[in-house]
Amino acid sequence: QNIAIFASGSGSNAEAFFKYFGGNKNINICLLLTNNKHAFAIQRAEKFGIPSVTFNRHEFYETDGVLNKLKEHNIGFIVLAGFLWKIPLNLIDSYHRRMVNIHPALLPKFGGKGMYGMHVHEAVVKAGEKESGITIHYVTENYDEGEIIFQEKCDVASSDSPEMVARNVQKLEHKFYPEVVEKCLSALK
Ligand code: GRF
Repeated sequence: QNIAIFASGSGSNAEAFFKYFGGNKNINICLLLTNNKHAFAIQRAEKFGIPSVTFNRHEFYETDGVLNKLKEHNIGFIVLAGFLWKIPLNLIDSYHRRMVNIHPALLPKFGGKGMYGMHVHEAVVKAGEKESGITIHYVTENYDEGEIIFQEKCDVASSDSPEMVARNVQKLEHKFYPEVVEKCLSALK
């Protein structure tokens, strides 16, 4: 099965996938797609010999360029890993229940537009939450609203800074995201 990863930034989750699936003959991470030509994710992919494709808004929203690229590489499953643009309908329709995202909090809390990166952890701390965690979900046309596949929690102490929460959540992401995707893939067979 061929997977593509979409990432806009650092790509630490993308790297967790490159490592986890490296050497697995049945599951291939074929392509990294990004809207940001400066994304560190591109360099991480390069290190693992994975090619990257960069696109702009016009290509993404007004053409089938990205979809065609995915077809060219025979991509059957898409992983969003810190990808910040809304997914257009041509991709949503072609990858129904074959596209997942990870959110760094326990949805439905702390999701939606503007809730990404440190904004999420700041909101969690500000609200005095006792726990946070990760949510892995299918992707639909609305941000953070697709069916939830998996959640895992971590404690939040009242003395924790948003950066500390971010670190704890990130550990969960790297540990569980590739495993959960592997399970989704085997359920498709
Ligand atoms: C992660 O926290 C993920 O939950 C969110 O974006 C962040 C990406 O981090 N969707 P990285 O680029 O994988 O390091």
